[in-house]
Amino acid sequence: MNLDSTGRGGHDAALRARAVGKHEDEAADFAKEYQVLESSGYLASAFLLGRGRIDGVLDDELSVLPAGADVLDAGCGTGSQIQDLTRRGYEVVGVEPAGEMRRRAMDLNPGVSIHDGSILSLPFPDSSFDAVIALEVLRYLPAADVRIAYREMQRVLRPNGLLVVTLVNRWAIDGYYIWEKVMTRRALRTGLDMRAHCEFVTPREVRRDLAGYGFDRIETVGRLLIPLRWAYKVGNGVGRAIAKVLDPIDKFVSRIPGTTPFAGHLIVLARRPGRKNGPQPT
Ligand SMILES: C[S@@+](CC[C@H](N)C(=O)[O-])C[C@H]1O[C@@H](n2cnc3c(N)ncnc32)[C@H](O)[C@@H]1O
Repeated sequence: MNLDSTGRGGHDAALRARAVGKHEDEAADFAKEYQVLESSGYLASAFLLGRGRIDGVLDDELSVLPAGADVLDAGCGTGSQIQDLTRRGYEVVGVEPAGEMRRRAMDLNPGVSIHDGSILSLPFPDSSFDAVIALEVLRYLPAADVRIAYREMQRVLRPNGLLVVTLVNRWAIDGYYIWEKVMTRRALRTGLDMRAHCEFVTPREVRRDLAGYGFDRIETVGRLLIPLRWAYKVGNGVGRAIAKVLDPIDKFVSRIPGTTPFAGHLIVLARRPGRKNGPQPT
């Protein structure tokens, strides 16, 4: 599908295309991670450790939705969250532009509608969903596209509908911002590795942007404050052993007020205002 439907320049279009291309190539790796989750749990890899934190917040937030609620998973990847959400009794729909990801999501979730589409132009009428989630999707898009995505998600949410998205903290204690800059520079120099874009934000910027698109009850939640993912760079065995000890401490310190901008994962919750309650998107 054409992802450059927003009329933006070539640079953003290239980043957009790379966000999809990377995931075409890595679909099998993603699927494998989620299989490991079934057999070995959230401490098995750095990826799953982070997913555990995101799933924890997602579970708490979605628990307020009644069975049968309409939920959109935008950028659903291999469809792992769709499977969980369907098991919990929600009516789930997915959108995924990478063909290989989509094929896997459809195999995992027979009978669920999984559309070829982009979060920048969601193929649904206004006010279609009680909740929209986009987990680890916006981080791959340039800033202007992230704002377009906010507008789109706001449009398809019903009044009081819930938004759950993740982004990447610019000032995370694990130094991911510096790591990413170094790796990007190296990739440019060697031409060997076409890295996907990573959009860094602060919680304050996100709250401002979402408020600008008419969201309210905006909350930014930080998780994974201790840089446990570094331990997994040595090896998954080492990572798991260290995470086993430090995981409960991390879960505690990540909840200390004021730590959100420094956490490895930034999870954002917001609501579309109710009918009588504030501005509607333009
Ligand atoms: C890191 S994966 C996350 C997948 C899934 N949400 C999960 O948590 O397992 C990012 C996903 O975003 C998708 N993506 C990239 N650009 C997108 C766009 N413009 N609209 C929707 N999804 C997009 C990718 O194809 C990929 O499947």
